[in-house]
Order: sequence, then structure tokens, then C-alpha cells
Amino acid sequence: MTPPAGFAARVVRWQRSHGRSHLPWQGTRDPYRVWLSEVMLQQTQVATVLDYFPRFLARFPDVSTLAAAPLDDVLASWSGLGYYSRARNLHRCAQVVVGQHGGEFPHDAATLETLPGIGRSTAAAIAAFCFGERAAILDGNVKRVLARVLGYGDDLASARHVAQLWTHAEALLPKREAMPAYTQGLMDLGATVCLARNPSCLLCPVHGLCAAAAQGKPEAYPVKTRKLKRSAEALWLLHARDARGAVWLEKRPVPGVWAGLYCLPVFASRDELQGALPARARLEDGEPFVHVLTHKDLHLHPVRVRVRQLRREGAWFAEGEWPKLGLPAPVRALLQAGMLPLPTGMHGRTRSS
Ligand code: ADE
Repeated sequence: MTPPAGFAARVVRWQRSHGRSHLPWQGTRDPYRVWLSEVMLQQTQVATVLDYFPRFLARFPDVSTLAAAPLDDVLASWSGLGYYSRARNLHRCAQVVVGQHGGEFPHDAATLETLPGIGRSTAAAIAAFCFGERAAILDGNVKRVLARVLGYGDDLASARHVAQLWTHAEALLPKREAMPAYTQGLMDLGATVCLARNPSCLLCPVHGLCAAAAQGKPEAYPVKTRKLKRSAEALWLLHARDARGAVWLEKRPVPGVWAGLYCLPVFASRDELQGALPARARLEDGEPFVHVLTHKDLHLHPVRVRVRQLRREGAWFAEGEWPKLGLPAPVRALLQAGMLPLPTGMHGRTRSS
């Protein structure tokens, strides 16, 4: 497969005229900001990151502030973004940068990739944006763009084929000066033009070079056979309140769902939940709802009760303390709904992660 001539130049020209240029993590070569944005964007939509990114930066303005902060504070600022291993890795990574690299992010993708939570594509993005390194990115969107342009039809469920695509990605790289615009251009193409469904081929700057478009079947690429195996789990959440309206919360074990976050006590059945309460406690069953995680649908059954004390690990937290805690998004919503019926949007399904 010979790389299509002029591919990178077209991507760069298009990025400069039509790509995104006003996102708050653009126009900077500060690796702390670029790293933070790339980690947030790994599994989260740009619109959500636009909300979290400035708040996180205001609380943790540089890598040494982040490294010195308690993990609980970092999890609290991440609360609602989901995939909390990202926040734990972010914190560990900051500590490694401070402890082992003198507080300066390494300048090359190979060393960046040794840091916690930084994979090959994220390392390349930081190195390209901040230091102009000729390092290839290959996240899900970019796999789609390149598989289509090249007409790469081998199954990307196989690591060998993904490795081949990495090699193609490297062969397409422009010279150093063009690396930031090229890297952003590939991301922008994948996010705004070369969409998984109904791609806007007529707006695409590399339409004339694209093998999949020439075949008239862009959606046939990339090929990936393995489907995510999904499972379901039912959980009962004990929403216990004391006379003052404080709520009983406990830390989730690591590893597991919502690891390290504060949470309502979780039980595998209603009987088990009841067994943790005084015999006289009056239970009030809330409306069950589904919370969608990457690999799993959680069927959550809130059960409300008023008690004086619970005999288990955990503590009472008054309403004023909730905003500072790292809480899973559905638990925060439940607490905010209090004893009122849940807002209609929460019946049925909540958003993912
Ligand atoms: N997704 C991943 N990285 C991104 C970036 N730098 N800009 C926009 N979307 C992205």
C-alpha cells in the first residue's frame, strides 16, 4: 500500500482553514494543559470537556499543585466525567513528573509513554503538539480516517493489523513544523467529517485520495469483528439519611465499579440491604433506573431510609459537603433529588460512564 501523495499537506491546509482552532487547550504548547486535555478527551465528548477543563485547571493550575493534592480532591474534580482510573493515573503521573522528571514533562513520545495513563497515541499527541515530534497518533477516530483513505480492510480486532496501521500512520507524517496542525487536522477530520455513519465525503479535503470513497463505500471501513461483550448487574443503593438530612457514604473498594469514590452503600440484593439495617427501619423503594457503563448496564435500585446510625465503614455527610466529594454521577443525582421523586430524565437510563 503506497501512501497517497499529498495526504498530509491537504490535511494541514484544511486544518488551518476549516479545523477547530479555538478550543481552550489549543494555542498552547504547555504540556500540562495538552496532557490534561488529551486525557479528558480520551473517553469524553469535547462539549463536556469544555466544561470540566477550565474548572480543573483553576483548582490544579500546574503539575506540582496536582501532584501535591490529595487523591480525593482530584477524584472530586473528576466527579461526573467517568472512567475514574483516568483521574487516579493523572494524579500518579503528576507525582512521577515531579518526583522523577524535576516537574517537567519529558519532550519525547517514547518517554512520555512510560508515564501512568499515557498510551502511545496520547504520548504522540503531546509530543507533536508541544514539541513538534514526528510521532503518529492512532485513536479510534484516526483509525477510521486512515483505514478509509488507504482502503485498509484487514480486521482491526487483530493486534497485528493495528500494528500495520501504525506503520502506515508513521509513513504519512509531514515534517516537524507541520506536526501540530497535521495531528489536530486528523483529529478534526475524524470528529467532524469522516464520521462513522454518513461521513461528509464531499467536504473532505482528502476525498480525491480516498480509496474507500473511490469504492463508493466509506462505511465499509474500518473492519472490526470483535464486539464488546456487555453484561448487566443489579445493585441496591442504600440512601440512608439521619434526622439532619445528612447522608451515609462510604469509600468504594479498589478495584471495581466506582473504585475510590464516595458512594451510597451498595448491595447485591434488597434482602442484603435490609440485613444491614435495624429491624424497625422503614424502607422506601425509589424508582429503579439503568446506568450504562462501558462493559456493563447497572440496574440501580435506590432504597431510602431514615436511621440514627449504621454499623459499617463510612460516615454521615451533610449536604454542604457533597460538592467537594468524588461521587459517581448517578449517586450525585440521587442525592440532589433527595426525598423528592427523581427528575423524569433519570427514570429509565442515565448517561454513560
Ligand atoms: N480528541 C482528542 N484530542 C483532541 C483534541 N486535541 N482536540 C479535539 N478533540 C480531541
